[in-house]
Amino acid sequence: MNLFLTGITGAVGMEMARWIARNAPRARVYALIRAPSPVVLKARWTKLAAKLWPEASARPPEGQFLPVLGDITRPGLGLSPEDAARLASEVTHVLHSAANVELDAPLDEARLANVEGTRHVFEVVRTFRRLERVGYVSTLFVAGHRPGRFLETDEVHEAGFVNPYEQSKYEAEHLVRGLMKELPIAMYRLAYLIGRDDGEVTRYNSMHSLIRLFHQGHVGAFPGTPDSRMDLSSNDYAAAALLTLFLEHYQPGRTFHIGNGDEALRLQDFIDTVVEVAAESERRWAQGDFLPPDIVDEETYALLRRTLLQTQNKQSHEVIRLGDTMYGHLLASQVFDARPVHALLGERVKPPPAKKLLMDVLRHCVATDWGRNRS
Ligand SMILES: NC(=O)c1ccc[n+]([C@@H]2O[C@H](COP(=O)([O-])OP(=O)(O)OC[C@H]3O[C@@H](n4cnc5c(N)ncnc54)[C@H](OP(=O)(O)O)[C@@H]3O)[C@@H](O)[C@H]2O)c1
Repeated sequence: MNLFLTGITGAVGMEMARWIARNAPRARVYALIRAPSPVVLKARWTKLAAKLWPEASARPPEGQFLPVLGDITRPGLGLSPEDAARLASEVTHVLHSAANVELDAPLDEARLANVEGTRHVFEVVRTFRRLERVGYVSTLFVAGHRPGRFLETDEVHEAGFVNPYEQSKYEAEHLVRGLMKELPIAMYRLAYLIGRDDGEVTRYNSMHSLIRLFHQGHVGAFPGTPDSRMDLSSNDYAAAALLTLFLEHYQPGRTFHIGNGDEALRLQDFIDTVVEVAAESERRWAQGDFLPPDIVDEETYALLRRTLLQTQNKQSHEVIRLGDTMYGHLLASQVFDARPVHALLGERVKPPPAKKLLMDVLRHCVATDWGRNRS
């Protein structure tokens, strides 16, 4: 397999690289990385490789991973003519994972990377003469405000979106589905990823910011019900499931859901878990000076939100800003159906128990002061 991989420096891409080095030693990976020059490209790759494989014994052989300079927002990915020709003649498999995952990026910016970027990737992929398989990485949250059970076969809805990121990924899915008529593409929708199985956080995101504010006692309430679900999973599981499905259960034209499905964490369990871990290191939780956030209905939350916006409290404003990009999913009572993937992968590749994962990630966050003191 000669794999063209985008997004290798990201949370998912890094885990895919580790998985491939461990499980597919004969695969060759052309990794698209953005950089202002070939010198910076080389430096980025050297730094990334040292992070991915700190132990020399685990390092992939020289030449298994080949960095390729490019930017998905540029037509032709900004590839050099030499790289474009080489990819066209050698690549057999493609995984497109690169994206702008900022939940509150303006819609134009999100579309540039996620819709136009995807269009550019596929324009280049069309030139690959030995193409066998393509995987496109999407998100379960293309469901937007759509309530209830969301199936792999669900595509179009008019429920609206919780944030611009998921709108852009929904639009990108539409584009990719159109391309499935001419290219062998499978789609992989992932849950919200919060860290590695051992708790390490490789890239901090909005969920970590919200949990940090919760940990510091700044979250008073969540909208929803105790049974509202939060489908949180690990980067390792997402990468292992995606690659196993891609290599062993490939089905062009199909969409796969990679997450916890019916086992997703309940909002009440999420709150209890954060409080439990917070009490280990923050005396005000242990002594009862901080109280767990309430779970309130939509109207009560709206009232609370308006009241807090009238205060000058910066942390409350930040909680509201983050909540505005996520809470819609709690109110929609969603379950992202993952039964087909769980049945396909069985005991071999299983999601980590969500509560334990959240505890390990939180302990890592606290131990590293939320990423400021990395070892
Ligand atoms: N993380 C999640 O919770 C989650 C959940 C569901 C679905 N997903 C999907 O999984 C995929 C990977 O997400 P992630 O969590 O790994 O995101 P991430 O950690 O933010 O990484 C994004 C990756 O995309 C690359 N990228 C962004 N813009 C680019 C550009 N213009 N040209 C080339 N590369 C570019 C980044 O490169 P730089 O290092 O140069 O920035 C990085 O490698 C995305 O498609 C996302 O929608 C993620």
